Amino acid sequence: MVDVLLGLQWGDEGKGKIVDFFAPSYDIIARFQGGPNAGHTLYVNGEKIVLHQIPSGIFHENTINLIGNGVVLDAVTLQNESKKVAAFGIDCKKNLFVSDRTHLILPTHRALDKASELSKGESKIGSTLKGIGPAYMDKTGRNGLRVGDLLDKNFTTQYIKLRLKHQRMLDSFGFQEDISAWEEEFFEALDFMRQLKIVNGEYFINEKISNGKKVMAEGAQGSMLDVDFGTFPFVTSSNTISAGVCTGLGIAPQKIREVIGVTKAYCTRVGGGPFPTELHDETGERLRKVGNEFGATTGRPRRCGWIDLVALNFACMINGVTKVVMTKADVLDAFEELHVCESYMINGKETRQVPYQMTKMSIEPVYKKFKGWNKDITAIKSMDTIPETMRSYIHHITDYLGVPVSHISNGPGRDQLICN
Ligand code: GDP
Ligand code: IMO
Ligand code: MG
Repeated sequence: MVDVLLGLQWGDEGKGKIVDFFAPSYDIIARFQGGPNAGHTLYVNGEKIVLHQIPSGIFHENTINLIGNGVVLDAVTLQNESKKVAAFGIDCKKNLFVSDRTHLILPTHRALDKASELSKGESKIGSTLKGIGPAYMDKTGRNGLRVGDLLDKNFTTQYIKLRLKHQRMLDSFGFQEDISAWEEEFFEALDFMRQLKIVNGEYFINEKISNGKKVMAEGAQGSMLDVDFGTFPFVTSSNTISAGVCTGLGIAPQKIREVIGVTKAYCTRVGGGPFPTELHDETGERLRKVGNEFGATTGRPRRCGWIDLVALNFACMINGVTKVVMTKADVLDAFEELHVCESYMINGKETRQVPYQMTKMSIEPVYKKFKGWNKDITAIKSMDTIPETMRSYIHHITDYLGVPVSHISNGPGRDQLICN
């Protein structure tokens, strides 16, 4: 049995914290897509740690963590992260498993990401520059190198061949930076990778499922960054939605039980692209300040705005969401009035549907206003004791989406979660 936990907005919904909270109820936590563009923040013994490549179940000693075939893996990031995790007494060589089909991010992928973004000028995606797009391009273009290839004695030859191809592409961009230092650390990290448990991920996970083990598939990014259904071309290069779990881990759709969608009580986006409910005023600034909305991977300020039910409803539909977890509700504690986007006005027409492209049109959000709860909710533990004004806000969202809000996160702390 597999439950999925994924982001319903443009990423950074607080997935890491929620996976860490649920992890004790699962035997395996598995990442199925994305790479080190992810930044998942956890608090362990009160200390903050951001995971980019390792699944968020790593701090639970009895939990197996799997990096699935759908992920693109940066060996250097993985090695550095495993050192950080080791400071907490966790040995990745014991409970971290990596699929042999997982594609590797090469130093030249990072260079190509940078060169491509530079060439786009004003219309750049705002990529994390971690080499995600170029690595996935080599996967679908049938050129990439995979983790299993590390065990092949011809790996270096294969690497050089691909590197030459990349060099020609870099030349065409006019990219001249010296990446030899990146290559050096890359080869060092590959030696570390070879010491990890490299497995045939699809047999590994299916055997566990057959033996009654419980799996949580941990999404990265968010549904609105999905390469097919997000705000293309301002998206990432993987399928971040629940369908990605099947291709990214090698499991059948009927194995999936719950799809838990995580949303903030408001909305943020980092990088370029459409964001209908973005606030460019002091309210947006206040959300950023109170919510400490700065990117966990790049440190960039996140763009902030009101919750967008049109986009959320779309995300619930394409994912088959069965439960919603709402995070960062405490950030709204002192707001007198809250706005909820109910529909979009596009060219004088009102719609509750997300259009196929949002970049070339003006979208005016239509809001419903709610009274804020004006109360510190950070110590609340049960839904029974939330303020009535907050209950109205949550009820409205539940009604609109037709999906229950099962948990509300009311602080970054590990146990700050309001349960039913
Ligand atoms: P992820 O990428 O979805 O895992 O989310 P990030 O870690 O990038 O960003 C979420 C940020 O919000 C992190 O700094 C978390 O520590 C923090 N956070 C998570 N849940 C809550 C919450 O309920 N309240 C507050 N105030 N912060 C939260
Ligand atoms: P987590 O898992 C927020 C955004 C980037 C950029 C676009 C493409 O922490 O929620 P990429 O590097 O993937 O080519 O960038 O996607 N992006 C994220 N935004 N959270 C993330 O991950 C993101 N991963 C990528 O800012 O706009
Ligand atoms: Mg993040």
